Amino acid sequence: MDLKGRDFLKLKDFTPEEITYLIDLAAELKRKKKEGVPHDEKKGRNIALIFEKTSTRTRCAFEVAAHDMGMHVTYLDPSGSQIGKKESIADTARVLGRMFDGIEYRGFGQEIVEELARYADVPVWNGLTNEFHPTQMIADMLTIKEKFGHLAGIKLAYMGDARYNMGNSLMVTCAKLGMDFAACTDKKYFPDPELVSYCEEVAKETGASILLTDDVREGTKDADVIYTDVWVSMGEPEEVWESRIRALSPYQVNRSVMENAKETAIFMHCLPAFHDLKTTIGKQIYEKFGLTEMEVTDEVFESSQSVVFDEAENRMHSIKAVMYATL
Ligand code: CP
Ligand code: NVA
Repeated sequence: MDLKGRDFLKLKDFTPEEITYLIDLAAELKRKKKEGVPHDEKKGRNIALIFEKTSTRTRCAFEVAAHDMGMHVTYLDPSGSQIGKKESIADTARVLGRMFDGIEYRGFGQEIVEELARYADVPVWNGLTNEFHPTQMIADMLTIKEKFGHLAGIKLAYMGDARYNMGNSLMVTCAKLGMDFAACTDKKYFPDPELVSYCEEVAKETGASILLTDDVREGTKDADVIYTDVWVSMGEPEEVWESRIRALSPYQVNRSVMENAKETAIFMHCLPAFHDLKTTIGKQIYEKFGLTEMEVTDEVFESSQSVVFDEAENRMHSIKAVMYATL
């Protein structure tokens, strides 16, 4: 499998075999790291990380993965570069492409990262856009594979805002890998019909299935994986909280949802999560709406079924795999 020079912008661009290769490469690099086997074949390379939105996992994963492979990192924070404000994406891409061996971009529209990739002569990696979060997918699939030993036939139910980056990405990934995907949410938050049609076509080839339902019992029945994400994403206006809480509260992951899933089911979340009052936003929402937990209850988040920190660790191994394969 040769992915050298390829951009990593969304999983729609990759075949099931290529995605499987990246997941298995991530597992291999994880093993090497745990066993202390050096894997610094990319020594001396330089990468740029552009973050127009904040991040804990993705930034740290790129930095640690790069250092493990002997690479140097330049971090451009949301206010620290000319990008978009004084210099176009195309010009920025051509400048950074002359200096760096690879560029990560986290920001707003998918079209921005696509444009960056078009103009830079080096691999560009999508560290999250409004539409897709592809590096998260490799980590999530690695986590599921570690827990169940396989991916095909796994039933994954996604609850919450299914028309944003996480819902879209999980639906595409499940379709590509022959998994059963259910978007279990208010009808207004179903994924984009065009993307659903694309995934249904892919599913015909891979044996996957796609279900959209607003019925919690139907959507989560016998699921292997219950997945959720924040109800309001980065970059969205504060005003949407009220309508989001009203629409998505019935789709909170709680004990009764987990009991409706398989006994062996796991709980996943890309994080960060609102499961208690230990955050500023969590406290503000409590003061305004009286909620002590949002998309997932603290009970489920802290339960033995929750694999969220394995998942977070796997971000590093899988981002390493993406860089290793494409550089
Ligand atoms: N899951 C994820 O992308 O986390 P960060 O926003 O902290 O990078
Ligand atoms: N949907 C979330 C994902 C965070 C990793 C957001 O875009 O903020």
